[in-house]
Amino acid sequence: MIEFPPRLSLAQTPTPLQKLERVSAELGVNLWIKRDDLTGSVLSGNKVRKLEFSFAEAMRQGCDAVITCGGLQSNHCRATALLGAQLGLEVHLVLRGEPEGPADGNLLLDYLAGAHINAYPVRQFASELQDLLLQKQRELKLKGVNAMIIPTGASDGVGIWGYIAATEELQVDFHRHRIVPSHVVCATGSGGTQAGLTLGAYLHGWDSQVLGIAVCDDEDYFQNKVRADMRAWKRGYDRHEDVEACEIHVHDGYIGPGYAKADPEVFETIGWLARTEGIVLDPVYTGKAFYGLVQEIKTGALAGARDVVFVHTGGVFGIFPQKHQFQTEEGR
Ligand SMILES: Cc1ncc(COP(=O)(O)O)c(C=O)c1O
Repeated sequence: MIEFPPRLSLAQTPTPLQKLERVSAELGVNLWIKRDDLTGSVLSGNKVRKLEFSFAEAMRQGCDAVITCGGLQSNHCRATALLGAQLGLEVHLVLRGEPEGPADGNLLLDYLAGAHINAYPVRQFASELQDLLLQKQRELKLKGVNAMIIPTGASDGVGIWGYIAATEELQVDFHRHRIVPSHVVCATGSGGTQAGLTLGAYLHGWDSQVLGIAVCDDEDYFQNKVRADMRAWKRGYDRHEDVEACEIHVHDGYIGPGYAKADPEVFETIGWLARTEGIVLDPVYTGKAFYGLVQEIKTGALAGARDVVFVHTGGVFGIFPQKHQFQTEEGR
Protein backbone atom coordinates (compact mmCIF):
# COMPACT_ATOMS: atom_id res chain seq x y z
CA MET A 1 0.00 0.00 0.00
CA ILE A 2 1.21 3.46 -0.89
CA GLU A 3 1.08 6.06 1.87
CA PHE A 4 -0.46 9.31 0.72
CA PRO A 5 -0.07 12.90 1.96
CA PRO A 6 -3.16 14.87 3.09
CA ARG A 7 -5.93 14.52 0.54
CA LEU A 8 -9.50 15.74 0.16
CA SER A 9 -12.21 13.44 -1.12
CA LEU A 10 -13.51 15.39 -4.13
CA ALA A 11 -13.54 13.07 -7.14
CA GLN A 12 -16.28 10.49 -7.70
CA THR A 13 -14.10 7.40 -7.62
CA PRO A 14 -13.49 4.60 -8.40
CA THR A 15 -14.34 5.32 -12.03
CA PRO A 16 -15.28 2.34 -14.23
CA LEU A 17 -12.84 0.53 -16.47
CA GLN A 18 -14.87 -0.54 -19.52
CA LYS A 19 -14.01 -2.61 -22.54
CA LEU A 20 -14.84 -0.94 -25.85
CA GLU A 21 -16.43 -4.04 -27.36
CA ARG A 22 -17.17 -2.82 -30.88
CA VAL A 23 -13.98 -0.80 -31.25
CA SER A 24 -11.93 -3.76 -29.96
CA ALA A 25 -13.54 -6.08 -32.52
CA GLU A 26 -12.76 -3.58 -35.28
CA LEU A 27 -9.14 -3.05 -34.23
CA GLY A 28 -8.30 -6.63 -33.22
CA VAL A 29 -6.95 -5.48 -29.83
CA ASN A 30 -8.75 -5.40 -26.50
CA LEU A 31 -9.17 -1.69 -25.95
CA TRP A 32 -10.28 -0.62 -22.46
CA ILE A 33 -11.21 2.83 -21.29
CA LYS A 34 -10.75 4.20 -17.78
CA ARG A 35 -13.69 6.56 -17.40
CA ASP A 36 -12.07 9.49 -15.63
CA ASP A 37 -14.48 11.66 -17.59
CA LEU A 38 -16.89 10.41 -14.89
CA THR A 39 -15.06 11.81 -11.83
CA GLY A 40 -18.01 14.25 -11.57
CA SER A 41 -20.53 16.07 -13.76
CA VAL A 42 -19.29 19.60 -14.39
CA LEU A 43 -16.48 18.91 -11.95
CA SER A 44 -15.07 16.11 -14.07
CA GLY A 45 -11.92 14.80 -15.70
CA ASN A 46 -8.35 14.21 -14.59
CA LYS A 47 -7.82 17.50 -12.79
CA VAL A 48 -10.17 16.58 -9.94
CA ARG A 49 -7.88 13.73 -8.92
CA LYS A 50 -4.86 16.04 -8.85
CA LEU A 51 -6.68 18.85 -7.10
CA GLU A 52 -7.62 16.55 -4.21
CA PHE A 53 -3.97 16.88 -3.22
CA SER A 54 -3.36 20.48 -4.35
CA PHE A 55 -6.34 21.84 -2.38
CA ALA A 56 -5.39 19.74 0.66
CA GLU A 57 -1.96 21.38 0.47
CA ALA A 58 -3.53 24.86 0.18
CA MET A 59 -5.55 24.14 3.30
CA ARG A 60 -2.52 22.77 5.13
CA GLN A 61 -0.82 26.09 4.36
CA GLY A 62 -3.86 27.95 5.73
CA CYS A 63 -4.71 29.61 2.40
CA ASP A 64 -7.97 31.43 1.72
CA ALA A 65 -7.45 31.46 -2.04
CA VAL A 66 -5.72 29.72 -4.92
CA ILE A 67 -4.31 31.20 -8.11
CA THR A 68 -3.88 29.10 -11.22
CA CYS A 69 -3.46 29.51 -14.97
CA GLY A 70 -4.23 28.07 -18.37
CA GLY A 71 -5.92 28.74 -21.70
CA LEU A 72 -9.32 30.40 -21.96
CA GLN A 73 -10.82 26.91 -22.36
CA SER A 74 -8.69 25.25 -19.69
CA ASN A 75 -10.36 22.23 -18.08
CA HIS A 76 -7.98 22.60 -15.18
CA CYS A 77 -9.08 26.19 -14.53
CA ARG A 78 -12.74 25.18 -14.71
CA ALA A 79 -12.21 22.33 -12.23
CA THR A 80 -10.26 24.66 -9.91
CA ALA A 81 -12.99 27.32 -10.13
CA LEU A 82 -15.73 24.84 -9.21
CA LEU A 83 -13.74 23.23 -6.42
CA GLY A 84 -12.89 26.63 -4.96
CA ALA A 85 -16.61 27.42 -4.88
CA GLN A 86 -17.33 24.03 -3.29
CA LEU A 87 -14.71 24.51 -0.60
CA GLY A 88 -15.26 28.24 0.02
CA LEU A 89 -11.87 29.38 -1.30
CA GLU A 90 -11.39 32.31 -3.68
CA VAL A 91 -10.11 31.28 -7.11
CA HIS A 92 -8.09 33.68 -9.27
CA LEU A 93 -7.45 32.57 -12.84
CA VAL A 94 -4.67 33.91 -15.03
CA LEU A 95 -5.82 33.08 -18.55
CA ARG A 96 -4.05 33.02 -21.90
CA GLY A 97 -5.91 35.02 -24.57
CA GLU A 98 -8.67 37.59 -24.48
CA PRO A 99 -12.29 36.40 -24.47
CA GLU A 100 -14.40 37.38 -27.47
CA GLY A 101 -18.18 37.21 -27.65
CA PRO A 102 -20.33 35.39 -25.09
CA ALA A 103 -18.42 33.00 -22.82
CA ASP A 104 -18.68 29.35 -23.91
CA GLY A 105 -17.53 25.93 -22.67
CA ASN A 106 -15.14 25.97 -19.72
CA LEU A 107 -14.91 29.77 -19.56
CA LEU A 108 -18.67 30.03 -19.07
CA LEU A 109 -18.37 27.61 -16.14
CA ASP A 110 -15.46 29.65 -14.70
CA TYR A 111 -17.71 32.69 -14.61
CA LEU A 112 -20.65 30.74 -13.16
CA ALA A 113 -18.39 29.43 -10.39
CA GLY A 114 -17.50 33.00 -9.47
CA ALA A 115 -13.80 32.75 -10.32
CA HIS A 116 -11.88 36.01 -10.67
CA ILE A 117 -10.81 36.12 -14.30
CA ASN A 118 -7.60 37.87 -15.38
CA ALA A 119 -7.10 37.39 -19.11
CA TYR A 120 -3.91 38.44 -20.91
CA PRO A 121 -2.83 38.64 -24.55
CA VAL A 122 -1.18 35.40 -25.68
CA ARG A 123 2.28 36.98 -26.04
CA GLN A 124 2.26 38.60 -22.64
CA PHE A 125 1.04 35.39 -21.01
CA ALA A 126 3.82 33.40 -22.69
CA SER A 127 6.63 35.72 -21.61
CA GLU A 128 5.40 36.92 -18.20
CA LEU A 129 3.38 34.05 -16.71
CA GLN A 130 5.52 33.58 -13.58
CA ASP A 131 5.49 37.33 -12.88
CA LEU A 132 1.75 37.57 -13.43
CA LEU A 133 1.12 34.78 -10.94
CA LEU A 134 3.46 36.22 -8.31
CA GLN A 135 2.09 39.72 -8.83
CA LYS A 136 -1.43 38.41 -8.21
CA GLN A 137 -0.24 36.61 -5.08
CA ARG A 138 1.41 39.82 -3.74
CA GLU A 139 -1.67 41.88 -4.59
CA LEU A 140 -3.88 39.47 -2.62
CA LYS A 141 -1.41 39.39 0.28
CA LEU A 142 -1.73 43.19 0.59
CA LYS A 143 -5.49 42.66 1.01
CA GLY A 144 -4.83 40.06 3.70
CA VAL A 145 -5.62 37.10 1.43
CA ASN A 146 -3.20 34.19 1.60
CA ALA A 147 -3.16 32.51 -1.83
CA MET A 148 -1.35 29.39 -3.04
CA ILE A 149 -0.25 29.19 -6.66
CA ILE A 150 -1.20 25.94 -8.41
CA PRO A 151 0.88 25.57 -11.59
CA THR A 152 -0.53 24.78 -15.05
CA GLY A 153 -2.63 21.63 -14.95
CA ALA A 154 -1.74 21.06 -11.25
CA SER A 155 1.22 19.22 -12.72
CA ASP A 156 3.85 19.36 -10.01
CA GLY A 157 5.20 17.22 -7.17
CA VAL A 158 1.90 17.59 -5.27
CA GLY A 159 -0.69 17.14 -8.05
CA ILE A 160 0.88 14.01 -9.50
CA TRP A 161 -0.21 12.13 -6.37
CA GLY A 162 -3.65 12.14 -8.03
CA TYR A 163 -2.52 9.75 -10.72
CA ILE A 164 -0.36 7.71 -8.40
CA ALA A 165 -3.61 7.18 -6.51
CA ALA A 166 -5.37 6.33 -9.78
CA THR A 167 -2.92 3.47 -10.36
CA GLU A 168 -4.11 1.90 -7.08
CA GLU A 169 -7.59 1.93 -8.57
CA LEU A 170 -6.36 0.57 -11.90
CA GLN A 171 -4.56 -2.22 -10.06
CA VAL A 172 -7.93 -3.36 -8.67
CA ASP A 173 -9.54 -2.96 -12.12
CA PHE A 174 -6.86 -5.12 -13.78
CA HIS A 175 -7.31 -7.77 -11.15
CA ARG A 176 -11.10 -7.78 -11.50
CA HIS A 177 -10.97 -8.06 -15.29
CA ARG A 178 -8.00 -10.46 -15.18
CA ILE A 179 -5.91 -8.39 -17.56
CA VAL A 180 -2.25 -7.40 -17.69
CA PRO A 181 -2.31 -4.45 -20.10
CA SER A 182 0.62 -4.03 -22.44
CA HIS A 183 0.01 -0.26 -22.59
CA VAL A 184 -1.68 2.42 -20.51
CA VAL A 185 -2.19 5.48 -22.69
CA CYS A 186 -3.15 9.06 -21.86
CA ALA A 187 -3.18 12.53 -23.43
CA THR A 188 -0.24 14.60 -22.23
CA GLY A 189 -0.72 18.36 -21.95
CA SER A 190 1.21 19.52 -18.89
CA GLY A 191 2.70 16.14 -18.00
CA GLY A 192 1.28 15.47 -14.53
CA THR A 193 -1.13 12.70 -15.45
CA GLN A 194 1.64 10.85 -17.26
CA ALA A 195 4.11 11.47 -14.41
CA GLY A 196 1.67 10.07 -11.84
CA LEU A 197 0.74 7.05 -13.95
CA THR A 198 4.42 6.33 -14.69
CA LEU A 199 5.41 6.57 -11.04
CA GLY A 200 2.42 4.50 -9.96
CA ALA A 201 3.24 1.83 -12.55
CA TYR A 202 6.78 1.76 -11.18
CA LEU A 203 5.63 1.57 -7.55
CA HIS A 204 3.30 -1.34 -8.39
CA GLY A 205 5.90 -3.09 -10.55
CA TRP A 206 3.65 -3.20 -13.64
CA ASP A 207 4.98 -4.55 -16.91
CA SER A 208 2.67 -2.18 -18.78
CA GLN A 209 4.19 0.69 -20.70
CA VAL A 210 2.71 4.08 -19.80
CA LEU A 211 2.52 6.07 -23.02
CA GLY A 212 1.72 9.77 -23.19
CA ILE A 213 0.45 11.14 -26.48
CA ALA A 214 1.53 14.76 -26.62
CA VAL A 215 -1.09 17.34 -27.56
CA CYS A 216 1.04 20.48 -27.65
CA ASP A 217 4.83 20.22 -27.11
CA ASP A 218 7.38 17.75 -28.45
CA GLU A 219 8.89 14.62 -26.96
CA ASP A 220 12.01 16.35 -25.59
CA TYR A 221 9.91 18.90 -23.79
CA PHE A 222 7.75 16.24 -22.13
CA GLN A 223 10.65 13.94 -21.28
CA ASN A 224 12.04 16.85 -19.26
CA LYS A 225 8.72 18.01 -17.84
CA VAL A 226 7.54 14.57 -16.69
CA ARG A 227 10.97 13.88 -15.16
CA ALA A 228 10.95 17.29 -13.43
CA ASP A 229 7.55 16.54 -11.84
CA MET A 230 8.84 13.19 -10.61
CA ARG A 231 11.95 14.81 -9.14
CA ALA A 232 9.83 17.47 -7.42
CA TRP A 233 7.69 14.68 -5.93
CA LYS A 234 10.77 12.84 -4.68
CA ARG A 235 12.26 16.01 -3.10
CA GLY A 236 8.96 17.25 -1.71
CA TYR A 237 8.09 14.03 0.09
CA ASP A 238 11.58 12.77 0.84
CA ARG A 239 11.00 9.58 -1.16
CA HIS A 240 13.69 6.97 -1.60
CA GLU A 241 12.54 5.68 -5.03
CA ASP A 242 14.99 6.01 -7.90
CA VAL A 243 12.85 8.17 -10.17
CA GLU A 244 15.65 8.32 -12.72
CA ALA A 245 15.05 4.62 -13.36
CA CYS A 246 11.43 5.19 -14.49
CA GLU A 247 11.19 5.05 -18.26
CA ILE A 248 9.15 7.85 -19.81
CA HIS A 249 7.43 7.16 -23.13
CA VAL A 250 6.06 10.08 -25.14
CA HIS A 251 4.69 10.06 -28.69
CA ASP A 252 4.68 13.50 -30.32
CA GLY A 253 3.42 12.50 -33.76
CA TYR A 254 -0.21 13.54 -33.23
CA ILE A 255 0.02 17.17 -32.18
CA GLY A 256 -1.36 18.23 -35.57
CA PRO A 257 -1.62 21.98 -36.19
CA GLY A 258 -0.92 22.83 -32.52
CA TYR A 259 -2.44 23.18 -29.07
CA ALA A 260 -6.25 23.21 -29.21
CA LYS A 261 -6.15 22.88 -33.01
CA ALA A 262 -6.98 19.52 -34.54
CA ASP A 263 -7.10 18.02 -38.00
CA PRO A 264 -10.47 16.80 -39.42
CA GLU A 265 -9.50 13.17 -38.58
CA VAL A 266 -9.66 14.00 -34.87
CA PHE A 267 -13.19 15.38 -35.20
CA GLU A 268 -14.15 12.29 -37.23
CA THR A 269 -12.71 10.05 -34.52
CA ILE A 270 -14.73 11.87 -31.86
CA GLY A 271 -17.90 11.27 -33.90
CA TRP A 272 -16.98 7.63 -34.53
CA LEU A 273 -16.46 6.84 -30.83
CA ALA A 274 -19.64 8.68 -29.82
CA ARG A 275 -21.65 6.66 -32.40
CA THR A 276 -19.94 3.35 -31.75
CA GLU A 277 -19.65 3.32 -27.96
CA GLY A 278 -21.60 6.32 -26.63
CA ILE A 279 -18.45 7.97 -25.26
CA VAL A 280 -17.57 11.58 -26.03
CA LEU A 281 -13.98 12.78 -26.36
CA ASP A 282 -12.76 16.37 -26.81
CA PRO A 283 -10.75 17.89 -29.67
CA VAL A 284 -7.98 19.40 -27.48
CA TYR A 285 -6.78 16.39 -25.46
CA THR A 286 -8.57 13.06 -25.47
CA GLY A 287 -9.74 13.12 -29.11
CA LYS A 288 -6.22 13.80 -30.33
CA ALA A 289 -4.69 11.16 -28.08
CA PHE A 290 -7.33 8.55 -28.89
CA TYR A 291 -6.94 9.22 -32.61
CA GLY A 292 -3.17 8.74 -32.15
CA LEU A 293 -3.68 5.51 -30.24
CA VAL A 294 -6.00 4.09 -32.91
CA GLN A 295 -3.46 4.97 -35.62
CA GLU A 296 -0.68 3.29 -33.64
CA ILE A 297 -2.79 0.14 -33.28
CA LYS A 298 -3.80 0.13 -36.95
CA THR A 299 -0.24 0.51 -38.17
CA GLY A 300 1.05 -2.17 -35.78
CA ALA A 301 3.35 0.32 -34.07
CA LEU A 302 2.31 -0.69 -30.54
CA ALA A 303 4.63 -3.64 -30.14
CA GLY A 304 2.96 -6.56 -28.32
CA ALA A 305 -0.35 -4.74 -27.86
CA ARG A 306 -2.87 -7.07 -26.17
CA ASP A 307 -5.01 -5.36 -23.64
CA VAL A 308 -4.59 -1.63 -24.02
CA VAL A 309 -6.02 0.89 -21.54
CA PHE A 310 -6.87 4.42 -22.62
CA VAL A 311 -7.36 6.85 -19.73
CA HIS A 312 -10.26 9.13 -20.66
CA THR A 313 -9.23 12.30 -18.89
CA GLY A 314 -12.45 14.24 -19.59
CA GLY A 315 -12.64 17.64 -21.28
CA VAL A 316 -16.14 17.38 -22.81
CA PHE A 317 -16.77 21.14 -22.53
CA GLY A 318 -14.02 21.63 -25.13
CA ILE A 319 -16.34 20.42 -27.90
CA PHE A 320 -18.68 23.41 -27.62
CA PRO A 321 -16.31 26.24 -28.58
CA GLN A 322 -15.23 24.11 -31.59
CA LYS A 323 -18.75 23.04 -32.60
CA HIS A 324 -18.34 24.33 -36.17
CA GLN A 325 -15.65 21.74 -36.88
CA PHE A 326 -18.01 18.80 -36.45
CA GLN A 327 -19.86 17.31 -39.38
CA THR A 328 -23.44 16.95 -38.22
CA GLU A 329 -26.24 15.27 -40.14
CA GLU A 330 -27.41 18.59 -41.53
CA GLY A 331 -23.87 19.31 -42.73
CA ARG A 332 -23.67 22.30 -40.42
C1 LIG B 1 -9.21 16.67 -20.67
C2 LIG B 1 -7.75 16.66 -20.44
N1 LIG B 1 -7.07 15.55 -20.76
C3 LIG B 1 -5.74 15.47 -20.60
C4 LIG B 1 -5.02 16.53 -20.11
C5 LIG B 1 -3.56 16.38 -19.98
O1 LIG B 1 -3.20 16.09 -18.67
P1 LIG B 1 -1.84 16.68 -18.10
O2 LIG B 1 -1.99 18.17 -18.08
O3 LIG B 1 -1.74 16.10 -16.76
O4 LIG B 1 -0.76 16.27 -19.02
C6 LIG B 1 -5.69 17.72 -19.73
C7 LIG B 1 -5.00 18.90 -19.21
O5 LIG B 1 -3.99 19.38 -19.62
C8 LIG B 1 -7.10 17.78 -19.91
O6 LIG B 1 -7.77 18.88 -19.57
